[in-house]
Amino acid sequence: MKQQAKRLLKRLCMAVGVVLLSTLDPSVGYAAERAIEIKHLGEGQSLVRVDARAKYLLLPVEESSPESKLYMIVDNDVVRIFNVRLAVNKVDYFVPVDLSGYADKTISFNFRFTPESALCWKEMKLSDQFDSSNREKFRPAYHFSPAWGWMNDPNGMVYKDGEYHLFYQYNPYGSMWGNMHWGHAISKDLIHWEHQPVAIAPDALGTIFSGSCVVDKDNTAGFGAGAIVAFYTSADSRQMQSMAYSLDNGRTFKKYDRNPILTSARRDFRDPKVFWHKESGKWIMVLAVGQEMQLYSSPNLKDWTYESCFGEGQGAHAGVWECPDLIELPVKGTKLKKWVLICNINPGGPFGGSATQYFVGTFDGKQFVNESPALTKWMDYGKDHYATVTWSNAPEGRTIALAWMSNWEYANNVPTLQYRSANSVPRDLILYTKNGQTYLSSTPSPEVLKLRGKAQRKGTFRVDRSREVYPILPDHTGAYEIEIEFMNNGADIMSLQLFNTKGEEVEMHYNLLENTFTMDRRDSGATDFSKTFATVTSAPISAAKEYTLRLLVDRCSIEAFDGNGAFAMTNLVFPEEPYNRVRFNAKGGAFTVTSLTIYPLK
Ligand code: FRU
Repeated sequence: MKQQAKRLLKRLCMAVGVVLLSTLDPSVGYAAERAIEIKHLGEGQSLVRVDARAKYLLLPVEESSPESKLYMIVDNDVVRIFNVRLAVNKVDYFVPVDLSGYADKTISFNFRFTPESALCWKEMKLSDQFDSSNREKFRPAYHFSPAWGWMNDPNGMVYKDGEYHLFYQYNPYGSMWGNMHWGHAISKDLIHWEHQPVAIAPDALGTIFSGSCVVDKDNTAGFGAGAIVAFYTSADSRQMQSMAYSLDNGRTFKKYDRNPILTSARRDFRDPKVFWHKESGKWIMVLAVGQEMQLYSSPNLKDWTYESCFGEGQGAHAGVWECPDLIELPVKGTKLKKWVLICNINPGGPFGGSATQYFVGTFDGKQFVNESPALTKWMDYGKDHYATVTWSNAPEGRTIALAWMSNWEYANNVPTLQYRSANSVPRDLILYTKNGQTYLSSTPSPEVLKLRGKAQRKGTFRVDRSREVYPILPDHTGAYEIEIEFMNNGADIMSLQLFNTKGEEVEMHYNLLENTFTMDRRDSGATDFSKTFATVTSAPISAAKEYTLRLLVDRCSIEAFDGNGAFAMTNLVFPEEPYNRVRFNAKGGAFTVTSLTIYPLK
């Protein structure tokens, strides 16, 4: 009888154009036919009704498909709007739509721009589980990456009560840019991160672009002493600044009910960085506005007064300025402190695409003045170091920076699927002086040392022509550190290659005629996902007899650091298998490797 009734109902529904799906995940143990109902309405529009007793609606994604727009509807109200590249011909992966919180409701979705013939209608399913365990060989072992979905800029980094918070530009509905949320992770040591639920989600003012957090110790905003206050850009057809606050150490955020707090008629008006300026007793906000930085001040984090702008005629201008930071740093070996304005630029980096430039100078609470307007200074000489900003409220007076380890030229196309992008290792910042100029030195934060396993020392040896060290580590999995001390005995070029049995290699060398350090990733592995990935990057060095090089190698990246902090160079690489050999080559004379130490990193 029951069966008959069901069959009748099914036929009835079919007659009115309702498709009842029985492709239900076995983990959901109730009547399949009631789970997903699909009505195609013509011209790419469909209504999908789901039973909210399952935790997730799993949507099949095909990255080469155009975006469909989804309106999630509960009790006739839209509760979420987002875009998904729904599978038309094949399924690359699934993304979860979290249905929890609506347990006794029926949830509907209005899908726009998806043809009736698309594969997604057959493949979407309800489930109580979403498997986010790693299935990617390039996923870093010790760099932060999202469990699934797309990540770009690090956002709102703040330290409070023994925890480092990392928020980040996040798309939970696909591994390409879109639907910007603030993702969240927490660490006690800057190295081991615990994924947290999404911190801030899009709303009627727009998606959630980059920004910063502060700890409002003195309750200047009135949300509560010690509130973590987040500033972000609400991005729609216009960009404006909004705020949200957390009274439970970043676990949940409440948006300020009078958002936005700052608007403009300028198109590019974003990425608020807020900090407390002791001398003037005010909060300062730095904003990226087209190709300049604007500065505002506030007594209470809510009301902002324009102070000044910086940019014209200063530094690189071949692209838009983004993600500013303004920090005061000590100058190594002196009692001096200077201000540094960090300015990310895209495109217009030294090797194409995005990069981080900075200016050194003074700041009086109103205006930043660059002490060397004729010079353009780069924070990192690789191609994959962008959106760099620093931790707010870091302990022991430290200034710790983090960069997004990619480049807008190809970030959406790198060969991973489950997730896309990772961050650099955290780096401690300090200033140093060279030839009368002040430069920024960024070196791996001391916490990175904790990753080191047992050291393998390969001794001292002279390189007249070529010398090979094999293997790097007997059983390594592509995550290691190499520290090398070079002593030059008259060579023009001191080079090393990291390579594997597939013939893939990354070549690095000191050119002592031109005083440069260079990394060549043209034969490093997969490069064909982008015309501009196969590149050579180069940093200026000072003439010297001895150099120390520190290489942090992970499954898809190499970060090279000068032992004295004179340069950093961050490049992605996608080798088929880990580089497990090193070869040294000398040209124009010989050199000595006075020390070579390899550490597995775990
Ligand atoms: C930098 C950036 C920011 C913006 C964000 C959007 O990579 O373009 O300016 O806030 O990404 O995701």
